[in-house]
Amino acid sequence: MINFKLSNGVEIPALGYGVFQMSSAEVREHLPQAIACGFRHIDTANGYYNEVAVGEAVRACGIPREEFFITTKLWPRDYGYEDCRRAIDVSLERLGMDYVDLMLLHQPYGAYTEAWRSLEEALAAGKVRAIGLSNFPRHKFQEVMDVATVTPQVAQVELNPRCNQHALKEWLEPLGVVLEGWYPLGHGDTELLEIPAIVQAAKAHGVTPAQVCLRWAIQEGNVVFPKTLNPEHMRENLAVLDFELTAEEMAAIDAIPQAPYYAVPEEAPAFINEMPPFDQQM
Ligand SMILES: NC(=O)c1ccc[n+]([C@@H]2O[C@H](COP(=O)([O-])OP(=O)(O)OC[C@H]3O[C@@H](n4cnc5c(N)ncnc54)[C@H](OP(=O)(O)O)[C@@H]3O)[C@@H](O)[C@H]2O)c1
Repeated sequence: MINFKLSNGVEIPALGYGVFQMSSAEVREHLPQAIACGFRHIDTANGYYNEVAVGEAVRACGIPREEFFITTKLWPRDYGYEDCRRAIDVSLERLGMDYVDLMLLHQPYGAYTEAWRSLEEALAAGKVRAIGLSNFPRHKFQEVMDVATVTPQVAQVELNPRCNQHALKEWLEPLGVVLEGWYPLGHGDTELLEIPAIVQAAKAHGVTPAQVCLRWAIQEGNVVFPKTLNPEHMRENLAVLDFELTAEEMAAIDAIPQAPYYAVPEEAPAFINEMPPFDQQM
């Protein structure tokens, strides 16, 4: 595995397994397969409604907890200082874990500066090993920085060849923030995998376009956790550790026109306040 070092010294595997839009039944079926293939980094969230199933799979596999890197995320309705303290403990209870490796504020709405204080306390208490922000645009990231005593160690954002996040990365680099990329395969968009620069690199290395997308992201220094229910794809995704793109191939992918799949709205969209309670695991 390729590991990156966060600013507080914690090591994060560059490649993980995302469980967004997986029911608990799907997690029970497919996460053990992913673990058997070799994945040790799992990206979940309160809002994925599958933390209980993730915790069960990690405990059941017999591999020591400390060999895993587990991320979860808190939702805006829990961002008040006290609510957030409670939400951190409840999330750990659902996972059945004493700590998680990374906890993020999932969305940039509501009382996120208060929530940051709770996350900093959880870090000091050893309930989380690293903390960060997900979907925060630069100005909201700065708002958190203005009150923070701990600089976020991670920023999780959309990141793929159509959304390379170079400007954000340049801004975050001096702060030592590691970028994590969601939708690394465009959430299953087959058109992404037909872009000539990606197809050409795939042919040159005898790999698939999906593998090129993942390898490109990791070679740029980013963390990715593609989701798949297909054991063949799990093996394929792990095999991106076994080849390297040339500087010319990287440059060609960097030159792909930018067209993100999702624009994070400035104000909270309706779904932020419409989520069912998180104890209703699905
Ligand atoms: N912070 C946030 O707001 C946020 C938002 C979205 C996602 N995320 C995180 O990012 C993770 C990844 O995002 P995502 O799940 O939405 O999308 P994704 O990983 O970009 O794409 C998943 C799709 O790619 C396909 N796929 C996976 N491996 C493949 C391969 N080797 N070849 C061809 N197709 C392949 C999967 O289909 P098969 O099942 O058929 O393989 C699935 O349809 C999520 O699971 C979650 O952990 C975070």
